Amino acid sequence: MDYRTFGRTGLRVSVCGLGGGGESRLGLKKGSTEDQAIEVVRRGVDLGINYFDTAPNYGTEDVIGRALAGCRDDVVISSKTVARRADGSPVSGADVRSALDETLRKLRSDVVDVYHLHRVQPDDYGYAAAEIVPELLALRGEGKIRFLGISESTGSDARHAMLSRAVADDVWDVVMTGFTFFNQSARDVLFPATIAKDIAVEIMASARSYFSRPEQLAAEIARLADAGVIGRDDVDPADPLRFLADGGVRSLTEASYRFVAHEPGVHVVLVGTGNPAHLEENARALSSGPLPPEVSKRLVSLFGHLSMAVDAPWRKPPAAHAPSQDTSTTGSGEDLQ
Ligand SMILES: NC(=O)c1ccc[n+]([C@@H]2O[C@H](COP(=O)([O-])OP(=O)(O)OC[C@H]3O[C@@H](n4cnc5c(N)ncnc54)[C@H](OP(=O)(O)O)[C@@H]3O)[C@@H](O)[C@H]2O)c1
Repeated sequence: MDYRTFGRTGLRVSVCGLGGGGESRLGLKKGSTEDQAIEVVRRGVDLGINYFDTAPNYGTEDVIGRALAGCRDDVVISSKTVARRADGSPVSGADVRSALDETLRKLRSDVVDVYHLHRVQPDDYGYAAAEIVPELLALRGEGKIRFLGISESTGSDARHAMLSRAVADDVWDVVMTGFTFFNQSARDVLFPATIAKDIAVEIMASARSYFSRPEQLAAEIARLADAGVIGRDDVDPADPLRFLADGGVRSLTEASYRFVAHEPGVHVVLVGTGNPAHLEENARALSSGPLPPEVSKRLVSLFGHLSMAVDAPWRKPPAAHAPSQDTSTTGSGEDLQ
């Protein structure tokens, strides 16, 4: 397992982090039992993973707390709270305090290492900074939080408007952002600032949806070529992903994770799975160094101008991918958080 210093937190973390949300929720969303989910987390520990991300709405805090109870001091646990509820009502500082107490109870811990404001929308950032951050700082002062983090919406904020604003403040030690083949915009929009301030960066959802489904990705690439969003002559319509195998990459997920892990400024890549064999593959991929340079260069030259949302895009109608001037999709669909 490869480890990195997690920006200015100084924590030493595995490049491969295990995420408890997304399409899988440690397998709970795909039919696994809690005992099986606990086994996945413990397999992660055996593989050398020491970074675990969860959130109250994933339903995996309790599983992660149970799985890690015997090695709490050896791992870094990240969880989250929201600035606005699903019904649209704003959350108060007192609400955040009681949400954290519930999180700590489920995690069986006195402290959360990284506590994020979860999926903050650009329009909510001002409210969050004014109303929630003072409470988070108070909770940090009381020793219940070690570091403050903030995550964006993978679906509605594809060009990182909220995080671009957040990193200008000196509050956040950690940011969680999306980075995929089809949305490399953080390279120019966000990472120059995080690198300058030594803010830790975790990547979410880089293999989600068609980035772990070769046939769907090939179909999407063909659609993008047909629409003129990527050069028709740059891809083989019959086998648009062939350059990955030609470069010695064994699977699409391996390419998806290795591509983002070696982007300058990135510290941790969260992988979401409930499948122990997938977890082993992903941990191995994330300790295999960068992709061959010709593969990385091809991914940048083919797709580097896109900034497509990373929420379940394959479920959207083709019109969502019609070419536009900036080739971004704002993602009105489901956001798996
Ligand atoms: N706004 C936010 O704060 C936010 C948003 C999104 C995500 N996150 C965090 O980021 C984490 C990672 O995102 P994600 O869960 O979307 O994860 P991801 O790793 O990008 O994608 C997970 C999907 O890929 C599949 N997969 C994983 N490894 C595979 C392999 N080796 N072969 C084939 N399929 C594979 C999984 O299915 P299997 O279960 O079958 O392996 C699952 O369907 C989340 O769990 C969550 O902790 C946070």
